[in-house]
This record gives sequence, C-alpha cells and structure tokens, in this order.
Amino acid sequence: MADVKMGEAETFAFQAEINQLLSLIINTFYSNKEIFLRELISNASDALDKIRFESLTDKSKLDAQPELFIRLVPDKTNNTLSIIDSGVGMTKADLVNNLGTIARSGTKEFMEALQAGADVSMIGQFGVGFYSAYLVAERVVVTTKHNDDEQYIWESQAGGSFTVTRDVNGEQLGRGTKITLFLKEDQLEYLEERKIKDLVKKHSEFISYPIYLWTEKTTEKEISDDEDDEPKKEEEGDIEEVDEEKESQLKEYDGKKLVSATKEGLKLDDETEEEKKKKEEKRKSFENLCKTIKDILGDRVEKVVVSDRIVDSPCCLVTGEYGWTANMERIMKAQALRDSSMSSYMSSKKTMEINPDNGIMEELRKRAEADKNDKSVKDLVLLLFETALLTSGFSLDDPNTFAARIHRMLKLGLSIDEDEAAGDDTDMPALEEDGAEESKMEEVD
Ligand SMILES: Nc1ncnc2c1ncn2[C@@H]1O[C@H](COP(=O)(O)OP(=O)(O)O)[C@@H](O)[C@H]1O
Ligand SMILES: [Mg+2]
Repeated sequence: MADVKMGEAETFAFQAEINQLLSLIINTFYSNKEIFLRELISNASDALDKIRFESLTDKSKLDAQPELFIRLVPDKTNNTLSIIDSGVGMTKADLVNNLGTIARSGTKEFMEALQAGADVSMIGQFGVGFYSAYLVAERVVVTTKHNDDEQYIWESQAGGSFTVTRDVNGEQLGRGTKITLFLKEDQLEYLEERKIKDLVKKHSEFISYPIYLWTEKTTEKEISDDEDDEPKKEEEGDIEEVDEEKESQLKEYDGKKLVSATKEGLKLDDETEEEKKKKEEKRKSFENLCKTIKDILGDRVEKVVVSDRIVDSPCCLVTGEYGWTANMERIMKAQALRDSSMSSYMSSKKTMEINPDNGIMEELRKRAEADKNDKSVKDLVLLLFETALLTSGFSLDDPNTFAARIHRMLKLGLSIDEDEAAGDDTDMPALEEDGAEESKMEEVD
C-alpha cells in the first residue's frame, strides 16, 4: 500500500444517493452495458469544448497540450480500457465534488426512472453518465490535470468510498483526463478493436474531435468493414483515427459527407430543376417574413432563413459553426463562468430556420405582409422562437413570459375575452403593447 512515490491518499465517502446509484448499476442486470463508452466519450467531448472555449479568450490555456483529441487505449495485458482526453481536466476540488460528494438532482430521478422501467441508456440525460463506467468496470481510476492544479488520481471500486491522491510520479498528461476502466471478467469484449470501433460509430457519431484508437496487434487484420477488402498490416502500437475511417466509408457508400444535424450544413440534394425553381420561388416569397422576424427577435438570433429540411415543425434553431450547441450552452449556463459578454455573444449565434410549407408560417407571412407591425405577429414570433428554443434543446431565460404567452393563447382557444379575464390575472404581462418586452427589444437593436 505504502508507495513513497505517490502523494498521500485521502479517502472520501460517496454521497448517499450516489452510493445507492452505484449499487444499482453494479447489482442490477442490464444487457445494454455498451452505452458506458458513449457517456465517457461525451464527457471527454464536453471537457474539450470547455478548454476550447476558454482558449478563445486566453490562448495560453492550450499551451500544456495544444492538440484537442480523444484516445481510446485497450490493454489486454491488464484488462483495462482507457479513455483519454486533452480537455479541461479537473482540479482536486472538481474531482471530489463532481465525482462523488455532490449529488445532482438527477441522481435520485434516474434511480426512480430505472425502477419505473426506464432504460439504463438514459443515464446521460440525468447528469450522472460518468457512473455508467461501473456497468463494465470493477475499478475505475481517473487521472486528471487541470491548468490550475497539479495532477491527481481519483480511484474507486465503489463500495462506499473513493480516494484522491496527488500523482507525483505518474506519466504526466499535460492537460486533460484519463479514465481507466479495470474491466469485469465477463466484460473483456470491450478490449476488442472491432467492438470499440463499432461502438464509436454507433453511439459517438457526432463528436467533433478526432477519436483515436490505440491498436496493439502486430498480426494482420482488417481495418475496413468490407468483407472483400485486402487485409492491412498494422504497426505495433499504432494509433488510428476512428472517425476518418467512418467518414471515408460513408463517402464510399453514398457520396454524402456526415454532418451534425444540430449544426448548420445538413443539406439534402437529389432534386430536379423544377423542384429547385419552386423552392426558390417559395423562398423569395418568405424573404420579407424573414426580415420581419429578425427585426422582432433582434439579437436573439443571428439570422433568419428559409429552410428546406424541416418536415413538420414551423421552425427550428441551429447553432453556427462557432456558436454554442444546445448542450454547450446548457453547460456554460450551469457553470458559474461569468464572462457575460462572451456568454451573450456566443448564445446569440443561432440561426432560425423557418419552414415555408408549414401552415403557421404561411399565415404569419400573410399577416406580416398585410401589416408589418401587427401585434399578433410579434406575439406569435416570440412564442415560436421560445418554443423552438425548447424543442432544440436550449433553455428559456424567462419561463414566466413564455408561460404568460401560452396562457394567452389558451384563452384565445377557449374564447375567453382578454379584458374580462384581465382582473384575475395579474401575472399576465401586457404582451407587445407598449410593455417592457418591447422596450427591452429596442435596446438590443
Ligand atoms: N473527461 C472529463 N474531463 C473533465 N471533467 C469530467 C470528465 N468526465 C467527467 N467530468 C466531470 O464530472 C461531471 C459528471 O459527469 P457526468 O456524470 O457524466 O454528468 P454530466 O456530463 O451530465 O455533467 C462532469 O460534469 C464533469 O464536471
Ligand atoms: Mg456526462
């Protein structure tokens, strides 16, 4: 036990609910264990997003490790699988807080959901994805280095406690996190290259950082899926980009490049000239509405465009290449990282895409055409925007105003007169009369 090279291990008790969750994960039978890799890769990706974001205002934050990557390293000698990222890493305090002593509200909710028959694969949505590591591992070791602290090792075999030790003599990460899973005896399939590649392709398709797989074999083996491909020789300890292979294969298959559906750039081609012309005409007829919507929404969106990819909903919000994804925005809001100028700049980089084939949009177009300053148009546009925020995974800054707008719509639907109802409804803001909302909007314009 006594290792003079290491710092002294401090032992911490898992918070009670986390402890319960761990027992549940370890002792309940779930066949869908493979999702652990998706969760750990998603955490790596989040950590990379964070350091990339920090580096926007301070380039030197990347100095310790300029490259942003995820590495998967199976080790058949020790039966371990490591997931390494060059993300933001964790300080000692982060380790203690994030991995065991502070429960998220989702901890309990997830256990209840599981008991109610939810699938274990939903774990990530409850903010406790990390613990899915214990679906396949009997022991987990997290080595991590944050720019603001020394390198530390977190370690636990569950069982109520974990330790945190200063890593004095271990291999230095520079910056980032290495999660090493000591696989359970019956989970050794996750050391197989083929299995890992398949899982990455299946569950981690839209990760925007390179994912490398460490291959330790010297024997001949196939890299490609294609049965009749020539087997290729690989060097010992070769590192291979899982992503690249995936993309080139897809290119071969249908000539289309893979793009994230929540980011800009998803285009569907294969249309005839006539269809193109029709679309163009439709787009033109909606140009004015786009302008009106942009005027109404102001800085809430970067631009408003006519879309040809939305099927049912009236509109959706996408983030630009450099804007925050919904997930990132959620993370940044949750964090007390408060450079609010950057925050509002990044979160305003949304594009609203409107669906010209949707009945609501068509009606809006007509009303806006008849009277650009139609109050109901403003109200509807704001409501559509807020609804799109929700359906696209963003959160609302002001749920009360949104609720008030909904209530007003409900009243319309129930044919309750605004004036009659006004008496018992003091929480109802004067929507787009000369109310606060309007002046606020003018300010940002
Ligand atoms: N690879 C990693 N790098 C940095 N921090 C991490 C990493 N993995 C986990 N964490 C920290 O542990 C927390 C818990 O992770 P998790 O249980 O997956 O929940 P969530 O990802 O929803 O926050 C994360 O919010 C993060 O602070
Ligand atoms: Mg997670």
